[in-house]
Amino acid sequence: MRVIILDTANQVAQYAADLLLETVRKKSRPVLGLATGSTPISTYQQVINAVQAGQASFKNTTTFNLDEYIGIDDTHPQSYRHFMKHYLFNHIDIDLANTHLPMAASLDETRLVENAQDYENAIQEAGGIDLQLLGIGENGHIGFNEPTSSLRSRTRIKSLSESTIEANKRFFADGEYQPHLALTMGIETILESKHVLLLATGHKKAAAVKAMVEGPLTAMCPASALQQHAKACLVLDQDAAAQLSLKDYYVWCEKQRQELT
Ligand code: GLP
Repeated sequence: MRVIILDTANQVAQYAADLLLETVRKKSRPVLGLATGSTPISTYQQVINAVQAGQASFKNTTTFNLDEYIGIDDTHPQSYRHFMKHYLFNHIDIDLANTHLPMAASLDETRLVENAQDYENAIQEAGGIDLQLLGIGENGHIGFNEPTSSLRSRTRIKSLSESTIEANKRFFADGEYQPHLALTMGIETILESKHVLLLATGHKKAAAVKAMVEGPLTAMCPASALQQHAKACLVLDQDAAAQLSLKDYYVWCEKQRQELT
């Protein structure tokens, strides 16, 4: 795992935006995996700024989001489709037909299982994901792969854990319905992405980051599965990196890399 520690959350966002933009510029038909949550919002803002300044175009880009809540329509203000339109898609030149999230509005299990398979097929048909952006839950989840998720899992129905429901409560108004189920890419789906870029900022993520990087490979910390990915890059601010035992080593490694041409 490549661990990059930057001073501020803003620098993390800039780093991530630059990598997303580089992928979009380099590839003729880029395929990005995108994430929701509060962490990537400032990354998306930096991407919007670059696109609006004419520095990049998303016309040929296809996107696949990690997950979607089950049982709410994708026009619902709490849906991740709505989140993505609000924070990114509506402000860049992407064709909405090329933006994908798991179809999760139905409560019919058979339908959801079919939609999950369709999602896997669509990723394959697009040629796989070039760069998957990830956040991390305080309990170590990626997407909505909660602790004890199979490390070989694929897109499927997941029940959210109590701690995730609690952590995400802040997005919902008092008394507003908060879904407890989601359709999420699986851990193996995520591991098949050519590159993975995980962002973590703030002290609340420090324990999960420590478990992901320096803990055992275990379903109890789904993000630890990234130890198995050949091109996983973690970009952290100082707060999120605070519990890492080998912090100085990671900083040293990055300095050494800069000496290479
Ligand atoms: C959410 C999402 C994840 C996200 C994580 C952290 O529940 N399903 O994809 O990475 O929790 O969110 P945040 O960035 O708001 O801390």
